[in-house]
Amino acid sequence: MSFNTRTHTCGELKLSNANEVVTLNGWVAKKRDLGGLLFIDLRDRYGITQIKIAPEQKDIYEVASKVGNEFVISVGGVVIERESKNKNIPTGEIEIDVQKFQILNEASVTPFVIEDEVKASEDLRLQYRYLDLRRHSLQRNLMIRSDVYRIVRNFYADRNFVEVETPILMKSTPEGARDYLVPSRVHKGKFYALPQSPQTYKQILMVSGLDRYIQICKCFRDEDLRADRQPEFTQIDLEMSFVHQQDVFNMTEPMFKEIWKEILGIELQTPFPQMSYDFVLENYGSDKPDLRIFGLSKIVNISEIVKDLEFVVFKNALAEKNGIVGGVKFSFAENNIDVTRKIIDGLTDFVKKLGFGGLGYIKYNSDGSVQSPLQKFLNEEVQAKIKNVFEAKDGEIIFILSGAKKKVLTSLGTIRNKIAADYKLIDKSRYEFLWVTDFPLFHYDEESGEIAAEHHMFTSPKAEEMYKFDEAKNLSGKERGELLQSIKADCYDLVLNGNEIASGSIRIHRQDIQKKVFDVVGLTEQEQQEKFGFLLNAFQYGAPPHGGVAFGFDRIVAILCGLDAIRDVIAFPKTVSAASLMDESPSNVAQQQLDDLGIAITIQTKNSD
Ligand code: AMO
Repeated sequence: MSFNTRTHTCGELKLSNANEVVTLNGWVAKKRDLGGLLFIDLRDRYGITQIKIAPEQKDIYEVASKVGNEFVISVGGVVIERESKNKNIPTGEIEIDVQKFQILNEASVTPFVIEDEVKASEDLRLQYRYLDLRRHSLQRNLMIRSDVYRIVRNFYADRNFVEVETPILMKSTPEGARDYLVPSRVHKGKFYALPQSPQTYKQILMVSGLDRYIQICKCFRDEDLRADRQPEFTQIDLEMSFVHQQDVFNMTEPMFKEIWKEILGIELQTPFPQMSYDFVLENYGSDKPDLRIFGLSKIVNISEIVKDLEFVVFKNALAEKNGIVGGVKFSFAENNIDVTRKIIDGLTDFVKKLGFGGLGYIKYNSDGSVQSPLQKFLNEEVQAKIKNVFEAKDGEIIFILSGAKKKVLTSLGTIRNKIAADYKLIDKSRYEFLWVTDFPLFHYDEESGEIAAEHHMFTSPKAEEMYKFDEAKNLSGKERGELLQSIKADCYDLVLNGNEIASGSIRIHRQDIQKKVFDVVGLTEQEQQEKFGFLLNAFQYGAPPHGGVAFGFDRIVAILCGLDAIRDVIAFPKTVSAASLMDESPSNVAQQQLDDLGIAITIQTKNSD
């Protein structure tokens, strides 16, 4: 079909173009009939331009009155000044007085109206993602995403990084989540895995002497999905040789500065603060604290203050090896919130679900009275000390929990986050970056006795903690687990507004140390060879000290777009059950395809998680 190609986009014509003869191509966003005059809002990626058709233009009028929403049309005409101007859009001062009008394609009635404040359910939007993606808000997210790609690529290209593509079909190497597997036709019964990340490859590239590697890559993880998790997601993946932790930080902070400046026009302050894992856990009860929260104190450990009280709940908690009593203060009056009985009961139910018998509190009412279920157990001196250590005043309440240290701290952290979210005590205008450092190398699960890598198995223990590997050999059970869990690693996360947006570490580059870690996590010699023989072999041939980091690209773009979930910064995301509603994947395949692979399917319903 022949048609006139556009001279302009739908987002650029202004009053200064008045009297020009132009051609526009696009989609009908809206058609209105105002007393005989037809108005069409013509939409493309760049904006919306109003088209005016008078009944006197009989032929054109007849065709134009037939168009429906989402018809693709081409119009030619003269740019004229609008009588009633729309100051909200860049083209709002002009309209096109039509001379030519052509329908390029018709459109069925769409399952939902394409508008920024869309009313359709998310499932319907995902099923018709091509229509959803016509909305300017989604297109804007993808454009921001595209801009961030460009900034990141240029940033690292300017600093001598080499972009290397690593395989998508690779060996299944455990990294924390479940692998997506791909059966091999040629090697029947064998499988490739899709990369959970290019971790082993980027380390091998360092052994090869590439020195500085970058890749913006897809990663695949079969894990439970949440708003900030997709089964396939994108990382900015980095690795560098001959570096320490601070070198990695120095190579990434300026990148964020550039992104924030260009996308949001915001000048970020660097260096970003650094806090150790122990510090953030003890103060915020989280390894990804949101530093924008106000109206809530840090966590205070009051074990020392209450240790001699005859209160059985505290006494029992403190009798345990790792027991503590801790609290967090909420300044309610200052934030115009009334902490009623109902609110306290709600929070009590909340902590009961977390496994506590109850929630202690001391409420300093605005009228100077004090309310507390603990009052009869607290003598005056202890009460004064608690008030003092929290710097509590009227209009504030201290919530108190007792029990095992990590559980108390993380639960108080959860309470902080919950109160902050419920009462909007988060300053949304701020961007709070934070490096969390010195993570434990291992995670010890007391119940199962299992020891797993906290980050991944290639993370380097701190040199000064290496002796604990030998000491642990003489121990068993809980004692061994606890000693191993106390080993700190050269491992770090970057946190932004309470989101983990990156993780990385200095790596093990020596075969003997790598083997020690594999041993601790319970990989037999045979498994080590089977799964990671290639890496251990590579380490024999001159592996340089190296380290790196991977940034969660989707999470960063979502934050830049002001979104909580990453789905709308991904063109074709999956649902929470990892399905694509548009193309209906995963799907059955033809019997012939299975036969080629030598695969017979038996569906087992148990272990279906
Ligand atoms: P990690 O597993 O912590 O580290 O991943 C790095 C970052 O990727 C993001 N991320 C995700 N984003 C969306 N959906 C997911 N399912 C998902 N999982 C992770 C997070 C996270 O901080 N190889 C190491 C990195 C390294 O050590 O260099 C790794 O992959 O923002």
